[in-house]
Amino acid sequence: MSVFASTESVHVRAPGKINLYLGVGGRHDDGYHALATVFQAVSLYEDVIARPADDFSITVSGVDDVDSVPLDDRNLAMRAAKLLATATDYDRGVALEVRKSVPVAGGMGGGSADAAAALVACDALWGTGLSSTRMHELAARLGADVPFALHGGTAVGTGRGDQLNPALARGRFDWVLVTSEQGLSTPVVYGRLDALREEEGMLADDPPMSLDVPIPVLQALRAGDPALLAESLLNDLQAAAVFERPDLDATIQDGIRAGALHGIVSGSGPTVALLCADPESAQDVQSVLQRSGREALHVHGPVPGARIIR
Ligand code: C5P
Repeated sequence: MSVFASTESVHVRAPGKINLYLGVGGRHDDGYHALATVFQAVSLYEDVIARPADDFSITVSGVDDVDSVPLDDRNLAMRAAKLLATATDYDRGVALEVRKSVPVAGGMGGGSADAAAALVACDALWGTGLSSTRMHELAARLGADVPFALHGGTAVGTGRGDQLNPALARGRFDWVLVTSEQGLSTPVVYGRLDALREEEGMLADDPPMSLDVPIPVLQALRAGDPALLAESLLNDLQAAAVFERPDLDATIQDGIRAGALHGIVSGSGPTVALLCADPESAQDVQSVLQRSGREALHVHGPVPGARIIR
């Protein structure tokens, strides 16, 4: 047993995210697309509890469709724990308990939040004391969105989305999230975007390999002005997500009719994120959408990244 190992359990909470801007460029040889995105962490969380154990094990509970979450090495929290153990020569295991609130395959980075939380929890449990640079490196190896789940707040992501720079954001932004029972596969949605672009006569590597986030997005965030931000919301994956799930268009339109400033598909979808002027307006929009039979949640951002709560 490692002399540094703790006998206590460690509880870490990590947020889901919205991409309030997502520009998608060309596809690299490794299959990943060049991105310029703005992430915002929102108040919908994944909880990971890590307990000392000789072997690696995981349980998952929470949102309706946890049955679709793998409990083997495909699980991102499990992969994060094993990657950290390998990177630090840790020779025992961990019993992970994952409590999910972020929709599964919802375009909100729930699996990435699990991975970030597991990294932070195991680092504390095992006393590995990795630097934040090293944690970021391991996070990026687990998935393009994992570094942001560690980081939280509001940030610009470039490269595959894993090269982060904090963005100044004043105040709080109120969002209504409309979730779907049926998730969407991220690779399928990116593949659909490539196919749609090809149909338009664009080659997969025609779109730029280096992109920037437009200045008005950053100005709206700095000003803390939801009306201004609403004008700049954009998601290049939206057409592809709507192709797979045509009902998402109506959800956005219904949200706007109910009083939202604007709405977009979150990441690769199918969650729809509706930006509202203030908490009261968000509550109204949430009520209207719930009355129409939809699952609607009121959240706010930005919130911090993965952190130990006990
Ligand atoms: O990094 P992550 O495992 O979350 O990505 C899931 C999938 O999303 C990738 O396998 C890829 O198909 C797609 N993706 C992409 N370009 C990115 C990020 C993700 O094509 N920058």
